[in-house]
Amino acid sequence: MTTTTPVSILGIPGSLRAGSYNKLLLKAAQELLPSTAQLEILDISDIPLYNQDNEGSLPRSVELLKEKVQQADAVLFATPEYNYSIPAVLKNAIDWASRPMGKNSWLRKPAAIIGASAGVLGTVRAQYHLRQVLVALDMQVANKPEVLIGAAHQRFDADGRLVDSTSRELLKSLLENLIALAEQHRR
Ligand code: FNR
Repeated sequence: MTTTTPVSILGIPGSLRAGSYNKLLLKAAQELLPSTAQLEILDISDIPLYNQDNEGSLPRSVELLKEKVQQADAVLFATPEYNYSIPAVLKNAIDWASRPMGKNSWLRKPAAIIGASAGVLGTVRAQYHLRQVLVALDMQVANKPEVLIGAAHQRFDADGRLVDSTSRELLKSLLENLIALAEQHRR
């Protein structure tokens, strides 16, 4: 009998807010994953502001972030949109784990982007900025389908469960594509 280790996905929310829709979106992803994969949601609230002076002795929270990224088969970013772009906390975490020079933890890692916002465009502008950043990191991105959750307050129920059927289908489909990419990358 052969056993295959489940594909491990690291979910990174771009919001520190306790009731964050983007954290809820990652919880929905956990619910929609097939049994061949698992998803851990990372807490990035301990990561200090990036300072190149501290690259010689990385803060413990940054070392942990880099370890988690390196160990994961794939990364799933759930980004809010702040003023048409990605939140500073997310960019800060990304910048830390891309350093020191030559030790980019994101390098060639399979990735996908999802996002939820209060506005009708559902983080599309932030997602395009993030895609640009992932090019700089040389990540391998599962591009489709795009999961753009607009009017987020209408898509989750009072318990925080993603209940909008189209959103669920799109998320499930993107997860399948990300898992396929991660499996291909493993080989
Ligand atoms: C926002 N929000 C927002 N929404 C949007 O669709 N486009 C935008 O450009 C912005 N800009 C923006 C800036 C700042 C500083 C904040 C705090 C908020 C609203 C945003 O979509 C909403 O707060 C989401 O609920 C944030 O995501 P989480 O925290 O629920 O994951």
